[in-house]
Amino acid sequence: MIKRENDGSAGDANYGAIGRTYSRYRRPDPRIAAMIERALGDAKSVLNVGAGAGSYEPVDRKVTAVEPSLSMREQRPPHLSPAIDAVAESLPFADLSFDASMATFTVHQWSNLEAGLAEMRRGTRGPVVIMSCDPLALDRFWLNDYAPDVIDTEARRYPPIDTITSGLGPGSAVVAVPIPLDCFDGFNEAYYGRPERLLDPDARLACSAWSFVEPHAVARFVETLTRDLADGSWDKQYGYLRAQPELEGSLRLVIGRR
Ligand SMILES: C[S@@+](CC[C@H](N)C(=O)[O-])C[C@H]1O[C@@H](n2cnc3c(N)ncnc32)[C@H](O)[C@@H]1O
Repeated sequence: MIKRENDGSAGDANYGAIGRTYSRYRRPDPRIAAMIERALGDAKSVLNVGAGAGSYEPVDRKVTAVEPSLSMREQRPPHLSPAIDAVAESLPFADLSFDASMATFTVHQWSNLEAGLAEMRRGTRGPVVIMSCDPLALDRFWLNDYAPDVIDTEARRYPPIDTITSGLGPGSAVVAVPIPLDCFDGFNEAYYGRPERLLDPDARLACSAWSFVEPHAVARFVETLTRDLADGSWDKQYGYLRAQPELEGSLRLVIGRR
């Protein structure tokens, strides 16, 4: 039995508490969306698991969205279909119901990753597309200098990419997803060249890792980054990132095929 919070949240983060700013800061980025669209191939029906407010959901295919948190379901825009209240680990669909399926920024939160991936595989005739972060690539990001607890939290939560490929079966492919400098989707690495943005508490609230970190560590992050931006030390070390068009960070697409 999966533990659920008051608003239905079924993963390790309680979106009833942290979800209110999500759709304002976590908007789908069109360049990342294009990579997901390509991976979904010519699928006409798509299952989106851990769909949240609907980021990256195709609009020209028949999408079935699954999302356990009411706070997140309520943030879905009117042009998307309402999401079904269910969890990845026990999907309420017959075998091979969908041409393709997808899950973005969610597998690290599931309480039983293997069960969730097996359920997606069971329900899908074609590709299963997972967007996640490689925990081995997280500590290259400058945030590790300022908020190591956040990076440690992420590295503990994100499953090894090999675990995802094994869960999806033989023939799975892994593709690095470049992060654009003006990325619309406000996950931590998206601010690689815009460090000031992470001083906004609501931007941090939209990245669940911050909710696992002690308030004193967050206060230290704000103090040191504010100081280093004011005295130029951040720019001296990392200023080149302000003009770097893309970052190859930790973001990956894992594409499982039958
Ligand atoms: C960071 S949000 C990502 C939402 C959306 N996919 C996106 O890319 O913006 C993670 C989502 O996964 C959902 N989630 C967590 N555990 C889940 C589970 N066991 N089954 C299905 N969804 C889950 C959360 O409720 C939340 O909406």
